[in-house]
Parts: sequence; structure tokens; C-alpha cells
Amino acid sequence: MPSLSSSPAWQALVAHRDALAGRRIGELWEDDPARGDSFTFHCAGIAADFSKQRATPETLGLLVALARDRGLPEAIERLFTGERVNLTENRPALHTALRGDEHASVDGQDVLPEVQRNRERMRVVSQAVREGLWKGHTGARIRSVLTLGIGGSSLGPRLALEALRGDADGPEVRFVANVDGAEFDDAIAGLDPASTLVVVASKTFTTQETMANAMAARRWLEASLGAEALPKHVIAATANLAAAGQWGIPECNVFPFADWVGGRFSVWSSVGLPVAIGIGMHRFEQMLAGAHAADLAFRSDPLERNVPALAALVGVWNRNLLGAGTLAVLPYASRLESLPAYLQQLEMESNGKRVDAEGNPLEAASCPVVWGGVGTPGQHAFHQWLHQGTDPVACDFIVAARSPSAAREHHEVLLAHAFAQSEALMEGLATPQTHKACPGDRPSTTYVLPALDAVHLGALLALYEHKVFAQGVIWGIDSFDQWGVELGKTIAGRILPAMRGGEVALHPATHHLLGVTRKLAR
Ligand code: F6P
Repeated sequence: MPSLSSSPAWQALVAHRDALAGRRIGELWEDDPARGDSFTFHCAGIAADFSKQRATPETLGLLVALARDRGLPEAIERLFTGERVNLTENRPALHTALRGDEHASVDGQDVLPEVQRNRERMRVVSQAVREGLWKGHTGARIRSVLTLGIGGSSLGPRLALEALRGDADGPEVRFVANVDGAEFDDAIAGLDPASTLVVVASKTFTTQETMANAMAARRWLEASLGAEALPKHVIAATANLAAAGQWGIPECNVFPFADWVGGRFSVWSSVGLPVAIGIGMHRFEQMLAGAHAADLAFRSDPLERNVPALAALVGVWNRNLLGAGTLAVLPYASRLESLPAYLQQLEMESNGKRVDAEGNPLEAASCPVVWGGVGTPGQHAFHQWLHQGTDPVACDFIVAARSPSAAREHHEVLLAHAFAQSEALMEGLATPQTHKACPGDRPSTTYVLPALDAVHLGALLALYEHKVFAQGVIWGIDSFDQWGVELGKTIAGRILPAMRGGEVALHPATHHLLGVTRKLAR
């Protein structure tokens, strides 16, 4: 992989950064009061306003040149055409094929028929559950869905169902992600096994947390309905059909997806089945359509106005040239409360890497810490740090132009606060009273959705997916593997037998903690 930091495109950006030093975002606005228009671009109906970034048109031009230099246009084609862009796992990352009706091939084989077949099965089963045609073992209608899954097998469906809560007209959907019995107990509280459908969502069908929860669900169902009830009460969304079969889930209850769908990109696959049950397949398909529109834009818009690419480049600018080590995700919509957690997995699991795709140490810092929380409650908590903390930070604001609620006054207040926050971060406050002064010049992007509906939620998530991919290309990262999560799993696999009395050699630090815990548990 050619060197990033010694490339002329990078050097030009460094020189430009230095030339721009001391120029505040507010001054850029004074120079060009129309920069709102020239820094706002559209993607699948979403407006992306980059005008509060510490960037000039020249900055964007140099960033686009960097993207070309790093081969972004070619990489986008490799992504969409099913090349094995996940190098360490030797797989394509073809989640885009799940959202349209276009032919795409893996190893010369068209994947569209399989995609359509799986989508059709999702339609049939989600309708059957919603219309009461899928009966439980006792003949009872399904009124609740208990979704067991973690990471990408949980965050996406949970976010979608929360975001589109206003459309929830099917059975109630609950989630258990953690291997914490208390979370499981809370989730089943008040549920009747006779009218509950359990969805085990796991790409690998080996994830310990999910498998433990699946066993707990099996015990819960069997205790009141008997073992013979399981086929009416347990279904799986997985890429490991054999493991689901061995677990005891009949083939007709297994909703597959291909191994070229990464876990954190799997909400578009059968992992989205709880969404289709909760709000209807037609709305799930609206999400797919919104995501597909963002795919088309990412693939065809010139880089100069390609929103996911520009979002990636602005992120690189903030992270690598301006030194912002964190990205705060600030949705001004309560129903997007889970968005920061969703994007945290998407960004940090994808680009939280220290070597490039060939194993060489990265020359530049990679993914910032992604965190955040919903506005306005965050304003009364961590925004103090955003305004007066010592660390450089970049922010993403997400707002919807129209409210899902009839309470118009609320929405005006909500938007006023969102816009006030980005203005305050940019302008700051100069005053001799140092405790009141805010340095300002803290960059942000504002994404404006016409409304928080299925189409634009799909578009927003796909926009971020492509942003993450484009950043990986700039940094030279394989964004589709996640080997860093394996070490802890392996160590836990040694500790557990020791906790259960086995003769296992443990690290003294772990042995010590086990002793402390045992004493306190008495
Ligand atoms: O541990 C990380 C991870 O592999 C994620 O990438 C994935 O979303 C999650 O675990 C769950 O994995 P699975 O769907 O195989 O249970």
C-alpha cells in the first residue's frame, strides 16, 4: 500500500492546514456568508451541512484529491461488484446487494435470486405472525417477540424499532443482548411463553452470550409448554444453518443470510426480521429503499458532492489534521437514542485498527472514539465538556425537519436547541470572565432528515456505512474484519472452566480477582 503521510496529496493537506492555522470557522463565515449553500450537499433526501467545519472550498478540493490518490472511486466499485474487500476473511462485503433488486455476483454467481428468496420468506413469516396466522403451540396468537442477539445482531433492529416506534403496529419486540441474567429476566417479565416467538439472531450461531440466552429461552419455553413446543416458538436468523439445525431449530424456521453480510451490516438481512414483524415488511422495505438510494448516490455522485465520501473526508480532516480524537453523535430525536451505540459499533469495530490491510502499522491515527447521546438531555450532562473541555472534538448533529409528533411547539424548541448548540460550539464566547468563556471553533456537521421515517432512517444508516468504508480506504484499513474482539473471547473461554472448578492455569491477576469476587459472593 503506498505511503499515506508522504504522498503529495497528504503533504498538500498538511501545508494547507498550516496555512489555515488561526483562522476560525466564524471568520470563514465572515469571508463567505453564503457558505451554508456551498457546503450543503444532498444524499437520498438527507441534507448534509458541512458549513460549520473548519474547512474552505480549497480544503474540500484537497481532501477529494486525497480520496482519488487513495483510490476511493476504484474501491467503491470493488465494494459494489462483490470483490473480496474483506481481505483477512477473504470475503466480499456485499450488504448493498440486500437493499436493491440489482444483479450482483460473488465468484461469478448472481446473488439476487437468493436475496429475493430470503426477502420473500421474511415477508411471508412476518405477515403470518402479524396477522395471527402463525400460532403458538397452544394455538395462541403471537403477541411478543423476544430477540436474542448481540452487536450487529441486535443494535440495528433495536435502533430501527425505536426510531420507527410510531409505526409499531405488530407484536411487541423485546431484546436481550447481554449475557446478564437480570437483562433476560427483565425482558421476559410479563411475557406469556404461549404467545411469544423467540428470534435467535446470530451470524455465526456460536456467540457465547447469544447461545447462553438462547438456552435460557429454551428452558423458559419448555418449562411451561414442553419441548415439543419449540418449533412454534423459536426461529433463527443466521449464516450458519448447520449450527442452527444442531441446536434444534427446524430448517423451515431458519432464515439465512450469506457470509458476505458482515455482522454490523446485517440489519438489512434476516436479522431485520423482528423489524418486519414489529412494523411490517412494507416499512422494512422502505428502509431498504432508503438505503439503496444512498448506495446509488455513493456509487455515482462525483466525489465533490458525494455525501458519504465528504463525510469521511471531513472526518479524516478533523481526526488527522486537526487532532480531534472523538466524534460526538448528537441526534436531536429521542427515538434515535440508540444511534450513538449503533454508530459506535459500525465505526469503531470497522476502523478501530492499528495496522493496514497488509499488516503494516498505520501512519496516521484511525477511527476516533465515537460516542454521544440524544439532545436535549445531553446538553444538561456532557455538553459542558464539548463547550469548555480541554480536548478537541468533532460533532455530528442529526435532526428531522418534521416531527413525528403533533406537538409542533416541542419540535421548534428542539430544533432551536440543536442549532444553538452547533452555533455555540462554532462561535464560542469571548469574555474576560474565564470561567464563562467558551473557546468555540469546534467543528460540526448537521444532517437534516425530512422526517424520521423508514426511508430516511435507511438512508442515514447507509450513508454512515459508506462513510466508514471510505475512511477505511483513506487509512488503508480492512474495515470488514474485527480480530481485536477475539482475544477477550479466548481468555473468557479459559476463565469460565476455572470458575466452574476446572484445573486451568490462570494469570495471577485474574486468579486474584476471582478470589476477591468469591469472598464477596459468600
Ligand atoms: O464480537 C464481534 C461480533 O462478531 C460482531 O461483529 C457481531 O455483530 C457480533 O459479534 C455478534 O456476532 P454473531 O451475529 O455471530 O452472534
